[in-house]
Amino acid sequence: MDRIIVTGGQELRGQIPIAGAKNACLTLMPAALLTSEPLTLTNAPRLSDIATMTELLSSLGCEVASLQDGRVLALGTERISNHTAHYDIVRKMRASILVLGPMLARDGEAVVSLPGGCAIGARPVDIHLSGLEAMGAELDLRDGYVHAKAPDGLIGAEYTLPFASVGGTENLLMAATLARGTTVLHNVAREPEIVDLAHCLRAMGARIEGEGTETLTIHGVDKLHGATHRVVTDRIELGTYMLAPVIAGGEVELIGGRRDLLECFCEKLETAGAVISETPDGLLVRRDGPIRPVDIKTEVHPGFPTDLQAQMMALLTLAEGTSVLEETIFENRFMHAPELIRMGADIDVHGGIATVHGVAGLKGAPVMATDLRASVSLILAGLAAEGETVVSRVYHLDRGYEHLVRKLSACGADIRREKE
Ligand code: UD1
Repeated sequence: MDRIIVTGGQELRGQIPIAGAKNACLTLMPAALLTSEPLTLTNAPRLSDIATMTELLSSLGCEVASLQDGRVLALGTERISNHTAHYDIVRKMRASILVLGPMLARDGEAVVSLPGGCAIGARPVDIHLSGLEAMGAELDLRDGYVHAKAPDGLIGAEYTLPFASVGGTENLLMAATLARGTTVLHNVAREPEIVDLAHCLRAMGARIEGEGTETLTIHGVDKLHGATHRVVTDRIELGTYMLAPVIAGGEVELIGGRRDLLECFCEKLETAGAVISETPDGLLVRRDGPIRPVDIKTEVHPGFPTDLQAQMMALLTLAEGTSVLEETIFENRFMHAPELIRMGADIDVHGGIATVHGVAGLKGAPVMATDLRASVSLILAGLAAEGETVVSRVYHLDRGYEHLVRKLSACGADIRREKE
């Protein structure tokens, strides 16, 4: 297994290109199950999660061609040859549940393994299931699988999500495009990745209103057709690299960065001492003076994204004062705190609240993390720490950050990857 070694203390200067969004691509790819015509996705990120989704879709009869070094994905599902998403693949990645809605909508049948727990909490899929039931699906849970049927097709329905689940909204939105009649979904998630999915589905012939608001109205159509769609910028990769020059010092331009994808995060970063300006090609970020404490509460979009909480905590360990971070989306999402403490941070965690008392400096240490965003928070901490930080379990990073070492070293970071 590989590990990444960061030697802190270098200011960062240069440009970092931001890739297409992992989380958008993971819902756009299953949309290819909705039509027999080709769906082409450009600006795709090159990540192991995309390879896992490719493996899953291939097992269902979707042909996936990776073109232009993985930047373009050409998907085609002339017919779904197998309607079972097996545990072996689903257990690797929770987003696998997103094949359920499309398969059920197109062919009236789907069998999908339940994702089970993962490192950041229980993460059930009850909202996905009850929404599909409202659309007339018959569901049977046995042997760890959801057996779903809609022999006469799905029927448009009015459904209020009990919580604005991102994956739940995506699954129900995709399913509703081919349902008979109109579906109205209330209290839906409004993340940019959902807006991107709606744009892609519309290009495929779907009739959707209200993306980016709390209510989605979908008028079902008989068929969808092929389309070409550009994957939206990865706002989580963007936010992660915006933090790099703030924690390490220097000035970095994030190519392709857009403030509107991350307004709440940008405001908090500015309070912490960042200066953010828009350029013709993206966003320019530098630190102005000392790092200041900020209180953060993670919320559904447009609130502060849970996927940037760990990285923000890395920055706030070095603030002049105390910050309070409240995690409301996931239970058990502070696994980075004990590792940051090993690097000299002063953090108390009680339930969903972490109190971070800023310290004057961090010290490099061997660390490891159990999820993607926790891992990258340790890389950020390592950029500012004295000495060497060795981050193990790099496969977490490969799920969500393409060419991480190359992107940071191009800006002057002392970072390398080696075999353990
Ligand atoms: C997506 C993102 C993930 C991000 C999260 C929240 C992808 C592939 N992943 O995950 O990176 O951290 O949104 O922004 O896009 N829940 C239920 N029942 C359900 C569904 C969800 O109780 O049926 C709970 C979950 O356990 C969790 C919370 O709702 O506590 C948020 O989940 P959800 O919004 O569905 O996130 P994901 O789609 O899994």
